[in-house]
Amino acid sequence: MAPSFDAAAVAAHVADAEARVQAAATLAALEPLDAELAGRRSVLGAWHRELGGLDEAERKALGRLLHEATQSIGAALVARRDRLEADDLRARLDADRLALDELEDLPAAGPVERGHRHLVTRTRDELEDVFVAMGFTVAEGPEVETDWYNFEALNIPPGHPARTMHDTIYVDAGPAESVVLRTHTSPVQVRLMEAAVRDETLPLHVVVPGRVYRRDTPDASHLVEFHQIEGLVVDEGITFADLAGTIQSFTSAYFGPDIRARLRPSYFPFTEPSAEFDITCTICRGARCRTCGQTGWMELGGCGVVDPAVFAAVGIDPSRWSGFAFGFGIDRCAFMRHQIADVRALTDNDVRFLRQF
Ligand code: DAH
Repeated sequence: MAPSFDAAAVAAHVADAEARVQAAATLAALEPLDAELAGRRSVLGAWHRELGGLDEAERKALGRLLHEATQSIGAALVARRDRLEADDLRARLDADRLALDELEDLPAAGPVERGHRHLVTRTRDELEDVFVAMGFTVAEGPEVETDWYNFEALNIPPGHPARTMHDTIYVDAGPAESVVLRTHTSPVQVRLMEAAVRDETLPLHVVVPGRVYRRDTPDASHLVEFHQIEGLVVDEGITFADLAGTIQSFTSAYFGPDIRARLRPSYFPFTEPSAEFDITCTICRGARCRTCGQTGWMELGGCGVVDPAVFAAVGIDPSRWSGFAFGFGIDRCAFMRHQIADVRALTDNDVRFLRQF
């Protein structure tokens, strides 16, 4: 039986097939062409099936032509698919591209506002300046303390009633040692005295500003987290008079010459004698008002002569050295100097408030 096709027909089919492959504009359009042009149901497929009825020479010659035709069409399909896939990817990347250079017509965000130091930071810096001018150095200590530094070395043993108003946030550091968020800056006194004894660098004239924590319920004059500045002097021949003079000098230097300090007898386990110190009310200047509870005075902090028990805990010889210490709230200083009605404003981070300073 004579074949229904010849070399020219095969070549024409290949040419036509390749043109259709090239014409497929999308992957979806290309998809069915595989079966249509080279599959078993295609013209090529039908021609293949005829080969079985041909004599050997013809079968070989036409068989090779059909094989080459299938190869060419297959290669054209693969090349076209690669090309369409690459185009497709580029189109998707182009669509995703953030054209920053085309955004020039959008309005600018406006000038960037510069911030400034928080009122508490500024107050701390100002307090440091006053004390540095009086001959003190500035030191810092850890905010997380052991029970020993925060309480015991300061003559506050477990069960001491003075712990009640200091009870704080305990940190779980295993069974060996009780660890707390420090309730005052006084533990740094102990660290500084230990270091001075070890390095033989006494005398000490130092102030220690820093953050402290208490179990207090926040209200207009209390925060759970606040700031103190501690003072410590250890030298030869130090008396209570040195303490009183230091407090008075500081008060007039920081609050102004018309503000006075007064000392009231008090009790702290780590000083003996101890005092609380008040300053003239900064709101009424001593005329008595609501803020000072009609007394004309405001309480600022505690102070006293270093207790011999504290010297014993750190190994300082009390027959040669004596000293005084004081501690008061930095937030409270800011509060009084700037006549802020509620200390919680210091931690609310409301820029309308902070901007005023
Ligand atoms: N640490 C005390 C407190 O937080 C304040 C204080 C009292 C500090 C007497 C002192 C001091 O250095 O001598 O309540």
